[in-house]
Amino acid sequence: MYQADFIVIGSGMAGLTFAIKASRFGRVAIITKGSVEESSSIYAQGGIASVLSDEDTFEEHIKDTISVGVGLCNEEVVDTVVRQGPGMIEELIELGANFTGTTLGGQKGLDLGREGGHSKRRIVHAGDITGREVGATLLEAVKQNPKIDIFEDHIAVDLITHTKFIGPLDKERVWGVYALNKRSGEIETFITGATVLATGGAGKVYIYTSNPDVATGDGVAMAYRAGAEIKNMEFIQFHPTCLYHQDAKSFLISEALRGEGALLKRKDGSRFMDSYHEEAELAPRDIVARAIDFELKKTGDDCMYLDISEKDADFVRERFPNIYKRCMELGIDITKEPIPVVPAAHYICGGIATDVDGRTSIKGLYSIGESACTGLHGANRLASNSLLECLVMADRAAACMEDEKKNQERLEKNLSSIPPWDELGTVRSNEAVVVTQNWEEIRRLMWNYVGIVRSEKRLRSAQDRLSLLLKEINQYYWDFKVTSDLVELRNIATVADLIVRSALLRKESRGLHYNIDFLESDDKNFKKDTTLKKNGA
Ligand code: FAD
Ligand code: SIN
Repeated sequence: MYQADFIVIGSGMAGLTFAIKASRFGRVAIITKGSVEESSSIYAQGGIASVLSDEDTFEEHIKDTISVGVGLCNEEVVDTVVRQGPGMIEELIELGANFTGTTLGGQKGLDLGREGGHSKRRIVHAGDITGREVGATLLEAVKQNPKIDIFEDHIAVDLITHTKFIGPLDKERVWGVYALNKRSGEIETFITGATVLATGGAGKVYIYTSNPDVATGDGVAMAYRAGAEIKNMEFIQFHPTCLYHQDAKSFLISEALRGEGALLKRKDGSRFMDSYHEEAELAPRDIVARAIDFELKKTGDDCMYLDISEKDADFVRERFPNIYKRCMELGIDITKEPIPVVPAAHYICGGIATDVDGRTSIKGLYSIGESACTGLHGANRLASNSLLECLVMADRAAACMEDEKKNQERLEKNLSSIPPWDELGTVRSNEAVVVTQNWEEIRRLMWNYVGIVRSEKRLRSAQDRLSLLLKEINQYYWDFKVTSDLVELRNIATVADLIVRSALLRKESRGLHYNIDFLESDDKNFKKDTTLKKNGA
């Protein structure tokens, strides 16, 4: 049994920032299921949206965010996150983050990129490897901090809830987490008064995704099982431009290319975005993704093309060194030829419902970053607002830890009642094929039936199939010793089910949820969040 003042699950930008900031108030443990470096955060290309130019204002960033969120943004959260942004960027620079600078317009010497849905240039970036730069800076600070312990190769399995493991309680409370040590195969008990879920997104619920393998929605699934409120799971953002190449797994072609003038084209070289939206290539992401999806279905082609070859070759190589290099490795010279692209699942706007400080509906449980649903994004996320949210919400949740420490006495009282993990009656599985088969089936089903364009019939078919799969997976889970693959399978099945159930509740099209049976938005009945809770509404 390990005890810390605060435990954060996840070592992406949200988790690392939280750990650094919360260490002011006590000892922090970071639990992460792979290497501490692995996360979606480190693959971020475009950058971090923030108001840093004299030509920009908080009001404009707020307006762009709310407009893209189509009526579902929590305006208090938007206001808070946008206004706290510049301070967070400054702190990163003080920590050593080396953002791309310029001698042109941008304040503080920063080069500010442009992305879809933004009325101004406001994306702070480090070339096209922003995530890697910020991640390395944060990790360095974490490693030097004697009050932070890192547990790599530990996958959190389930939260330790008071009512399930100790006894009845009026308002549920969490006292830490059971985590599988992937090296020893043992489940270890991590105890704390404040548990923070910073487990990132759930792109792996879909067969085609920009996300790394760790993005299996574990935090959302654990929080749901613990009884937390889950919101807006139907809003899945599909990035319009992932590289289409048989040897490229999940490689993103940043929206920043379109911000610098890249054009979307059909195989025959003709443009199409100007016939879908007045902002053409710089329309919000859902519109571009749907347009590509429509063109693919209409033409029967395998991909569309993104063309930046009209731009000066030196500029392209300097501004997008990582994309240039990766494409070159695959035989595509982006300074001379168009890049084959397709949409892929990229970001989940919904998640564990929190307030403006990251508190969930369960005491002692917080969520920050992509696993949370703060209300910043509403029905659609403005590009590069995610990393901004990770930083600000980590900072805000950490500020609550001084107060959370007061639960120490209560924790001590309950400590001896927290049982170790019980694996009685389970045996080692010799049927790993069940996991592989179900994993593949769920992800394909979600892509085909719950993708960019949805219908009631397909959603209902998905729900029927998922309910059978969930039953089978749960049975398997209780019969056999827990493995990392099984934990992830159970979680993607839970998250897929939450997405489908939420999508079925929304009988309209809004933002990222596009249903051909209800093409219009219906403000009267659906200008509200979709909330799901275990055994509840
Ligand atoms: P992550 O960075 O995903 O970290 C989650 C962490 O939790 C990982 O360390 C993971 O291993 C760990 N974890 C998960 N489950 C468990 C478990 N059960 N037990 C233990 N550990 C667990 N957004 C922007 O704003 N700007 C961009 O330019 C941008 N570019 C992107 C490019 C790509 C390719 C991708 C995939 C996303 C991009 N996004 C971008 C979105 C953004 O990167 C993510 O939303 C953000 O990084 C999420 O950060 P996070 O800290 O919440 O989670
Ligand atoms: C990108 O660089 O296109 C990704 C930006 C984002 O997801 O916010």
